[in-house]
Amino acid sequence: MDKRFYVTTPIYYVNAEPHIGHAYTTILADFLKRHYRLLGYDAYFLTGTDEHGDKIVKAASEAGAKPREYADRISALFRDTWKRMGLEFDDFIRTTEERHRTAVQSVLQRVYDAGDIYFASYGGHYCFGCERFFTEKDMVDGKCPDHNTPLEYIEESNYFFRMSKYQAWLAEYIKANPDFIRPERYRNEVLAMLDGETLEDLCISRPKTRLKWGITLPFDDKFVTYVWFDALINYISAIGYPEDDRFKRYWPVVNHLIAKDIVKPHGIFWPTMLKAAGIEPFLHLNVHGYWNMEDAKMSKSLGNVVRPLDLIDRFGNDQIRYFFLREMNFGADARFSEEAIINRVNYDLANDLGNLVKRTFDMVKKFFDGKIPARDPGETAGLDAISAKYSEALSAYTGQVDAFQFSTGIERLWEFVRLLNRYIDERKPWLLAREKRTAELSSVMRNLLESIAGLAVVLSPILNRTAPVILSALGLPAESGLDAVSSLDALTPDTALGEMGVLYPRMEKEKQVVEQKPKAAEKNAAGPNAGEGLIDISEFARVDIRVAKILEAAPVEGSEKLLELRVDSGLDTRTIIAGLAPHYTPESLVGKKILLVANLKPAVLFKRTSHGMLLAAKKDKKDRPVLIELSDNIPVGARLS
Ligand code: MSP
Repeated sequence: MDKRFYVTTPIYYVNAEPHIGHAYTTILADFLKRHYRLLGYDAYFLTGTDEHGDKIVKAASEAGAKPREYADRISALFRDTWKRMGLEFDDFIRTTEERHRTAVQSVLQRVYDAGDIYFASYGGHYCFGCERFFTEKDMVDGKCPDHNTPLEYIEESNYFFRMSKYQAWLAEYIKANPDFIRPERYRNEVLAMLDGETLEDLCISRPKTRLKWGITLPFDDKFVTYVWFDALINYISAIGYPEDDRFKRYWPVVNHLIAKDIVKPHGIFWPTMLKAAGIEPFLHLNVHGYWNMEDAKMSKSLGNVVRPLDLIDRFGNDQIRYFFLREMNFGADARFSEEAIINRVNYDLANDLGNLVKRTFDMVKKFFDGKIPARDPGETAGLDAISAKYSEALSAYTGQVDAFQFSTGIERLWEFVRLLNRYIDERKPWLLAREKRTAELSSVMRNLLESIAGLAVVLSPILNRTAPVILSALGLPAESGLDAVSSLDALTPDTALGEMGVLYPRMEKEKQVVEQKPKAAEKNAAGPNAGEGLIDISEFARVDIRVAKILEAAPVEGSEKLLELRVDSGLDTRTIIAGLAPHYTPESLVGKKILLVANLKPAVLFKRTSHGMLLAAKKDKKDRPVLIELSDNIPVGARLS
């Protein structure tokens, strides 16, 4: 099959303005589109807005507007925000568009004709905020578990979709297709919903006496369609279901992106709806965790940047894209804080990548008058090893992106970035220049420039503003493809390098305007021994200690104490720099299961970034540290609690 890729975001409700959670999913979709396009795929990216239902009517009336005017305004705000952030969506669907209405009505008619929609009287506990009925099992003390407001018992006649009929089929389908819903924890979540009790059929209509703002049922004009049944169909209405070529072309390769909040409609309603309408299931449902905003709320300086455009203004476009993709382990929640962003910018972008580019350009300026040197035919300066590492990093990265493990993938590329920084330290071009070893110097500098070109191409889907700047400065087209750089021989000798300013300026934390003083209640909670070294359980809970496995270990050149370790944390594969060299040989460490402090701020040691710390015990300062080792039956990734 030729290479195609179709990525969708949830269509966002127009009852609120775009915020960083929406921005994350949409940036991720934009990244994926660019990444697969770079790999030669025909890639298509859809986003849009969800505009029907009670919720929107309510928000509009609060804003003193008609639903349509209100939806027009907020939908335009979403579209405009994504445009101004340079996101390259191919289509923006609104559920109030005619093309969407016809598709929804056509699906409804098909399912109705097949006998899977029936009319019945129903009494149930309804939440107006969620616009849905809750079963006895789902409600908490008679309240909505999400809104914590009392549910209202209402009785009405409505149309129902026979979802239960497809329960067994769906459970089987998910079991037979392990990647249908990923990561695994969400697949298991959906399977748990399907195991055991029979699914309730889905109420898919609202009487117009109660709600008019929706799509009229094709078989009964006294009812509108339930907003979720309407909204999910956007993924096919936008690509011209049923007849359009785009539907035939892209539907078989669809990748939905959502967060964990909307797993049930996507994991259960949607595949059963598709099945009933005789449409092939989607290919993948990819579920990410939540950005935890607590810190953002607390920090004065971040208070004004939760709007995506302000966020970009404050930190920079590429900085935010990199942060989003590197910081979140896809599937798990992540912390959104100014500090976390600044650490990524300063350590990964400024120290590792920015520094590599700057040092290299400065040296070419100094030693070669700013012109790209030719490699000396007799001196490769280790080109084979660099090429091998480049291809290795590239294939590890693309493999991880295919598996939606972006953070691990990027880390593998950064290993290559760090290797290049080490290459500079080891080859010492300034000495080569002083000693007039021009052949070696030319090849070293050329190898570096070519590697930077390779990295810029691979990273262009993430760093979409700075990668083209690097490529142009190297005399390459801003839109260079992977083929051009695959053998690290893309540059033309004698080309004058363009100007390269500071790509990623180091950032300072904004000063907190108001000091955060502990609240009285917190002080009391600390108990009578407060101030005597005791900590609150919540303080301990902030330390993420996990079982990890050491995969590789090597000495850090130039240091007698440090070892560079690669460890599998269960969340990712990461680098740890540990002061173990006097006590352990590298070989003796490989394969050990140890304890890792996984959420420690990255630290730079001997120009390498350490992402965490291993726990060791020693009696006193002079004592030899003994690593805390664990037995084999404790799984990697298990968290200490
Ligand atoms: N309209 C429905 C989706 C219908 S899709 C057929 C909806 N809209 S929403 O505006 O509430 O958007 C929810 C989505 O926004 C999440 O699934 C996620 O993609 C994104 N996020 C919103 N807040 C988020 C975080 N705090 N963190 C990460 N993503 C979040 O649900």
